Amino acid sequence: MQAHTPVLLDEVLQFLNPQPASRFIDATLGAGGHASAILERTSPDGRVLAIDQDEAAIERARENLQFFGSRLEVVKANFRDIATVAGERGFLGADGILADIGISSMLLDDAERGFSFMREGQLDMRMNRDQELTADEVVNTYGEKEIADILFNLGEERRSRAIARSIVRARPLETTTDLVRAVQRVMGAPRYGKIHPATRTFQALRIHVNDELGSLEAFLDASMSVVRPAGRLAVISFHSLEDRIVKNRFRAPVVAGRVLTRKVVTATDEELRRNPRARSAKLRVWERA
Ligand SMILES: C[S@@+](CC[C@H](N)C(=O)[O-])C[C@H]1O[C@@H](n2cnc3c(N)ncnc32)[C@H](O)[C@@H]1O
Repeated sequence: MQAHTPVLLDEVLQFLNPQPASRFIDATLGAGGHASAILERTSPDGRVLAIDQDEAAIERARENLQFFGSRLEVVKANFRDIATVAGERGFLGADGILADIGISSMLLDDAERGFSFMREGQLDMRMNRDQELTADEVVNTYGEKEIADILFNLGEERRSRAIARSIVRARPLETTTDLVRAVQRVMGAPRYGKIHPATRTFQALRIHVNDELGSLEAFLDASMSVVRPAGRLAVISFHSLEDRIVKNRFRAPVVAGRVLTRKVVTATDEELRRNPRARSAKLRVWERA
């Protein structure tokens, strides 16, 4: 499996400015790219509390980051519960918080988890495998209108109704391949140079299954009280729906503070050459008063 290259790393470090003896929270540990950079900058005694809801990511990051010993604490949780987790681990008043939301290349590459339209797997799409709702339940049991609304609202898919109808007709769907076929019956085959016809459908289902927008809102509100005064909250998002939520929450915060990124920060050409995944990444940073 390919390692996850941390996106906008220089920019994140510039804004969070980690120093020795400080405490940071990485709310989306993933493969640990950002966390290890923060641990290096806070050496020898700074601490990082890292959260992820995916057990596989946690196991791998624990292994990769062993070197940092007790300076790193890892907790399996949804980041919407950041206040509780931070309270339990002595991280209230943290110097900074980072969230790099979305899916890791590790999850995408794991066919079995069902996130990829390029690989055949179960219709799962749960980031947290203790959760009950799966993509299978959505495509096989939800009403046609409900599916269409999910595709339209969370995937910005213009052919949502036709795709929903095709999904309902194709029941029972068993694998990601069945789902791709149902979508392609409406959208046609993949075309060179265009995004894959199932991209928006997969994205929408994933966001729904994991309640990603609800988690993000709860996380942003909670984090503003978890960072110390003058502490910073940095959020990297990958689609417009998420970025809109971040932008609006930062403008109307539940705790007094100000936006440091008047213009959203995106990857430099140099980074894009090294890491095409950074293409849609958007960083916004907020500072508590
Ligand atoms: C893009 S990856 C993070 C990569 C990481 N910054 C790195 O450098 O390796 C996003 C991670 O966030 C996790 N994640 C997404 N939503 C989450 C949530 N609501 N709560 C906890 N973890 C979440 C995913 O499981 C995934 O491992």
